[in-house]
Amino acid sequence: MKMDVLLGLQWGDEGKGKIVDVLAPEYEIVARFQGGPNAGHTLEFDGIKHVLHQIPSGIFRSQILNIIGNGVVLDPIVLKREIDGLGKFSIDYMKNLVISKKATIIIPTHKLLDAASEQAKGDKKIGSTLKGIGPTYQDKIGRTALRVGDILSPDFREKYESLVAKHKTTLSFYNHPLDALGEMEEQFFSAVEFFKTLNLIDSEYVVNEALDSNKRILAEGAQGSLLDVDFGSYPYVTSSSTMAAGACTGLGVAPSKIGEVFGIFKAYCTRVGSGPFPTELFDQDGEDMRKEGNEFGSTTGRPRRCGWLDLPALRYSIMINGVTQLFMMKGDVLNIFKEIKVCTHYELPSGERIDKLSFEITEQEVIPVYKTLKGWNCSLENMNSYEEFPAELRAYVEYLEIELNVPIKLVSVGPDRTQTILR
Ligand code: GDP
Ligand code: IMO
Ligand code: MG
Repeated sequence: MKMDVLLGLQWGDEGKGKIVDVLAPEYEIVARFQGGPNAGHTLEFDGIKHVLHQIPSGIFRSQILNIIGNGVVLDPIVLKREIDGLGKFSIDYMKNLVISKKATIIIPTHKLLDAASEQAKGDKKIGSTLKGIGPTYQDKIGRTALRVGDILSPDFREKYESLVAKHKTTLSFYNHPLDALGEMEEQFFSAVEFFKTLNLIDSEYVVNEALDSNKRILAEGAQGSLLDVDFGSYPYVTSSSTMAAGACTGLGVAPSKIGEVFGIFKAYCTRVGSGPFPTELFDQDGEDMRKEGNEFGSTTGRPRRCGWLDLPALRYSIMINGVTQLFMMKGDVLNIFKEIKVCTHYELPSGERIDKLSFEITEQEVIPVYKTLKGWNCSLENMNSYEEFPAELRAYVEYLEIELNVPIKLVSVGPDRTQTILR
């Protein structure tokens, strides 16, 4: 059996959590492979709305094993809070959740370093979620990080203190206050005690043995391809490999064992944090999109920047991920518009037309060139099949399919599990 991968094709918040939850019954395992508590994946069903940060979005399905893979950076404090938050749903997390011993741990000073580094950048700040992601991946790549398995070792405290001593040197260089550290450490060590009681495993064996015995696995991406550390709008990116290849290194699965790659995108674009966003709208349309789409961050509550769909960016993400099926989210948010725009190319100030996301694009001023399509401008409520959709919405979907050369197999028309139309 091969492992399917679901990932965001834009700047995150495409609706990954919702769709993983919708698809989960077709799988035996759901696994996160990168990122950490910077993610906020929202699930809505039976009148419940729940945001997950580190726990995979299969957790509400009792028959599914959820794996936090080695590629993830994990904050024990957030994990404890998340598990406590699941208490009211009577989820058996000892049975349904396992964590790789090779995942990396976020410690309190990583969060202070994140804040110090952002402050020092001034108006060049990345707009990090301040969850300690960048500094933790730096330690991982620098070979100084603590891993989940380390918490079981008798000299964990020693290893911890040695890393903190290194961090304090950097924090003093930034002149960053350490007042909050005492309380953060108290919370951290209490969470670590709880963490020790969880199922900590070598998850690469579980994943590969499951595939060998024909079990179905869905890998759940966090963030989006345009935030990928290699291919996103560097340096305005996150610090992990958010693309399909990241699912291989983040879970220990060979590239030859990747099956479908589900690429999920909003019917428009949003971005939270800094960095280039060619189709960003600063007018009433952008305001209306934010309001209609409730575009406020699931992790930080920040208003999301909004704009029209960007085909060159989407084609790029499809290319680097080898997307085999597209899922279009939040179609209902465009109900309010009489006309819908789609960016087909960019124009440089010199007048030259481009349609590639080259190295230079982060620095270049590009002007989006739009095609205008007729909006459907009506509610999609109570529509249960693609055939019931207004002709203009079907024309939008079919136009995108031709432009992107990948079938759009799912259209989402609301946040609830049930508001999902398969084609
Ligand atoms: P993720 O990070 O990719 O899982 O996405 P988020 O949960 O951060 O953001 C997506 C938001 O859109 C959440 O509030 C979802 O409940 C909501 N959502 C998902 N699909 C739809 C949809 O089709 N229509 C509408 N209106 N909202 C949706
Ligand atoms: P999900 O999984 C949207 C953005 C931050 C910032 C940049 C770097 O919910 O789609 P970091 O904290 O990683 O150092 O921040 O990346 N970012 C996200 N934006 N959705 C996310 O996750 C994000 N995770 C990080 O806003 O611009
Ligand atoms: Mg999110």
